[in-house]
Amino acid sequence: MKVPKRLQPLLDDGLIDQVEAQLMSGKEAQVYVVRSGDELRCAKVFKEAKQRSFKQAVQYQEGRRERNSRRSRAMAKKTRYGQKEQEQAWLNAEVDALYRLAAADVRVPQPYGFIDGVLLMEMISDAEGLTAPRLDDVTLSVEEAREYYEKIVRDVVKMLCAGLIHGDLSEFNVLLAADGPVIIDLPQAVDAAGNNSAEMMFERDVDNMRRYFGRFAPELLATDYGKEIWALYEAGELHPESQLTGCFEHDTSTVDVDELMTVIDDVREEEAYRQGARDRGDEPGVEEAAEEWQESQRER
Ligand SMILES: Nc1ncnc2c1ncn2[C@@H]1O[C@H](COP(=O)(O)OP(=O)(O)O)[C@@H](O)[C@H]1O
Ligand SMILES: [Mg+2]
Repeated sequence: MKVPKRLQPLLDDGLIDQVEAQLMSGKEAQVYVVRSGDELRCAKVFKEAKQRSFKQAVQYQEGRRERNSRRSRAMAKKTRYGQKEQEQAWLNAEVDALYRLAAADVRVPQPYGFIDGVLLMEMISDAEGLTAPRLDDVTLSVEEAREYYEKIVRDVVKMLCAGLIHGDLSEFNVLLAADGPVIIDLPQAVDAAGNNSAEMMFERDVDNMRRYFGRFAPELLATDYGKEIWALYEAGELHPESQLTGCFEHDTSTVDVDELMTVIDDVREEEAYRQGARDRGDEPGVEEAAEEWQESQRER
C-alpha cells in the first residue's frame, strides 16, 4: 500500500521496509502492519493532539513522575509549550509501560521503539499468522474462558506489582494470540501508587474482565479478584505469585469508625443519614451513623 506520511521517517531510517496493511482504526490511533526484514510488526500512529480528548487525560496522568521540573511546571500551566509537553508525556507513557511490563513478564507486545510519534511493536498473531482477534471478536468455550480469565488476572497482578494499572482494560484491548490473551493499548496506564483514582480504575479493569469471561462461564461472575488483589497490594503483600481465592471477605464485623466515616464522607451519604435521623428527632452519634450505613451496605 501507499506509505502514509507519518510512517515515511521510519522507512527513511530503515526501521521498516514496507507497509503491508492498515488495521481497523481505533479511538486514539491508526495501526498498520509493517514489514521489518522478514518480520511483520505493528506501527501505531497516534492521532494528532487536537483530535484527542485531554480532559480525560488529566485524571490518568495524575501521579506520573515528571523528572524534569521545568517540564512539570509547563505542564501545570496551560501554555502552548505545556500542552505540547503533555502530549509528549502521554505518547511516551505507552512505550514506557510496554518496556516495564515486558520486563515484568506480562504478556504485552514487545516494543521496538518510539520514533516521531509512532510506536513500533511486535505484531500479535493468531495460529494462522494473521493479526490476532480482539476478545470482543471471539466466542469462547467454558474451559477457554476460565483459563484466559486466570491468565489475565495473573497478568494484572504482575502489572500491579510493577506499579502500573492499565486503566482501560476491556475485551477491546485484549488480543487473543495463538498462545493466549495479550494485553494491548496502554497510553493511559496509571501509576498505581500516586493516583487517587488508582483503586477505582484497578477494580474497574478487573471487573470488565470478570463480566466479559462471565458471559461464557457464568460461575466467574461470582468472583471478586479486584478487591482481593487491591487489599494485598495496599498491605504490601502482593507478589507476582500471590495465592488468590477470587473471594473477598467484605469486613462487616469490626468497625473502624475513622475509616468508615471517610467512606461515608466520600459518597456523601453521611449527611443523608444524619438528616434522616434528625427528621426522626434523634441526632445520632458517629457510632450509630456507622452502624446504619453498614446495615444499608448489607442490604445492597
Ligand atoms: N501489536 C498488535 N498486534 C496486532 N494487532 C494490534 C496490535 N496493536 C493494535 N492492534 C490492533 O489495532 C487496534 C487498535 O489498537 P489500540 O492499541 O487498541 O489503539 P486504540 O487506542 O485506537 O484503541 C486493536 O484493536 C487491534 O485490533
Ligand atoms: Mg484500543
